[in-house]
Amino acid sequence: MGVRAAMNGTAKGTWHAPGRVNLIGEHTDYNEGFVLPFALPQGITAEGERRDDGLLELHSGGQREVVELDGLAPGRVRGWAAYPAGVAGALAEAGYLVGGATLRFTSDLPTGAGLSSSAALECATALALTGLYGVKADRRELVKITQRAENAYAGVPSGILDQSASLLCERDHALLLDCRTGLSAQVPLDLGEHRVLVVDTGVRHSLDDGRYADRRAECEKAAGLLGVPALRDVEDLAASLSRLVDPVLRRRVQHVVTENHRVQATVGLLKAGAAPEVGAMLTASHLSLRDLYQVSWPQADVAVEAAVTGGARGGRMIGGGFGGSVIVLVHRDRIARVRQAVDEAYAARSWRPPSYLEAVASPGAARLS
Ligand code: GLA
Repeated sequence: MGVRAAMNGTAKGTWHAPGRVNLIGEHTDYNEGFVLPFALPQGITAEGERRDDGLLELHSGGQREVVELDGLAPGRVRGWAAYPAGVAGALAEAGYLVGGATLRFTSDLPTGAGLSSSAALECATALALTGLYGVKADRRELVKITQRAENAYAGVPSGILDQSASLLCERDHALLLDCRTGLSAQVPLDLGEHRVLVVDTGVRHSLDDGRYADRRAECEKAAGLLGVPALRDVEDLAASLSRLVDPVLRRRVQHVVTENHRVQATVGLLKAGAAPEVGAMLTASHLSLRDLYQVSWPQADVAVEAAVTGGARGGRMIGGGFGGSVIVLVHRDRIARVRQAVDEAYAARSWRPPSYLEAVASPGAARLS
């Protein structure tokens, strides 16, 4: 089938998959709730070429790994190559047979910055392999396949936020995604004079250190105790909280339920043309992630506080937590002042200065040539 399908494929090509910023809706995806990410212009590019020896030859940053497609299974490949190899494995599991390929990856996305470089790597691989072999797979199907690659082959228990953002986002829009049904809507992201500034705190994180999995397990436990399929289904928050004895579980539930409301409120504000008011939602989300979900880290807290004091409309940590980036909503005329405020707050604590990136809502993954 690989060879027959390749008749409609292409001998070589170049594909790009972006990283993402999640405007709001953190730690809601695996609770079957709502998220609102947008794609960055930065991402991972895969230059691919078909080969007929059943091997996947992977190049990135001077490293080379060769993987046999035959017998590919979770646990067989380790390190960074597990992500692209996992995509080939998950494609095959889903019945999309692709053959060998040489893939050369380049990236302009900082790794470990909470901007989804691993999802970008998976999605670039998925487009390259399906493109090279003429395999027609729906984007939503590719979201599941790339998530499976990350969960089973790379061993990271993430939800569908990052892969959905990379594959489904559109230019100038945020993606409102219902993580239960997979249904999504494009929400115009008209920020007027405001900008989303990414502050990379320089603290590196990994989602497989157990703390992310702990949060997931706590949420599942709370949902079980409350008798709902997922925390998305909690309707009466006060009544639900009073039924939980464990203060940790109460905090987790309160975050997830209020965060889902903040996603909806943010969409309402954007639709009403009230983008600056989204800042208050971001800050409320940050405080909830800091105090209730307890996934923030000192450099993120200081960045948000200094940015807001310096004139930003609001800000919050993004991604899984414990490291990575913060986003800040700021009037374009105040960007320099906000950066200075954050730099000074870091210097006062003898922390290395953070790096900055202006986040512009960009198209999702696509073939370049
Ligand atoms: C990481 C995971 C996502 C999501 C976020 C938290 O980025 O990859 O699936 O759970 O954390 O919102």
